[in-house]
Amino acid sequence: MKKFLFILLACLFVGGCTIGMGAGTGGRNGGVSIGASTELNAGNPDKRRELKLPAKVKVKQKAMMRKHMQTLSDITRAISENDLQEAGTLARDRLGWNEKEEKKCKAVSEKTNEPEFLELGMAVHTKADELSKHAFAGDKDKAILALSELINRCNGCHKVFRH
Ligand code: HEC
Repeated sequence: MKKFLFILLACLFVGGCTIGMGAGTGGRNGGVSIGASTELNAGNPDKRRELKLPAKVKVKQKAMMRKHMQTLSDITRAISENDLQEAGTLARDRLGWNEKEEKKCKAVSEKTNEPEFLELGMAVHTKADELSKHAFAGDKDKAILALSELINRCNGCHKVFRH
């Protein structure tokens, strides 16, 4: 169990899932080529682009990320309990695209001179809106599929940027 968790976390954060699960890990939808990186090898430098942010901002950003993780957990639980209204509300209110999120993503994007940060951030938030739409419509299967795609989009940014 511990080993499984480690591999799962390694996939999410490092984006270099080459252990055990093989090349098929990317799933059927083609959205995730988890990549053939060898970043798990000690001594091999991390080739992702560093976001040049002050240490304090990095701490804040990581705290926000952990909140996102909590939100994914809460959404998953709500769906499993067939509380699709709750899942829709969580996705919309905590992860949806709105002026506040736009401001936050834009600020990082501009500060780091990385326009792609905004694009990748927006991709996550608009997928959350899609999830919420399916949840409110009572379509559990589509909501779960959107959740899967949402997680891939989280990872989409993790594959490109690091602190
Ligand atoms: C636009 C970019 C971007 C998006 C989108 C994004 N992240 Fe992150 N995330 C980062 C960066 C950058 C880090 C810092 C990585 C590092 O420490 O090198 C990070 C780190 C994390 C961490 C580690 C936090 C810690 O305490 O070290 C978690 C957990 C995380 N993200 C979850 C998520 C989840 C869940 C989503 C989607 C809902 C998401 N992220 C979407 C950029 C992003």
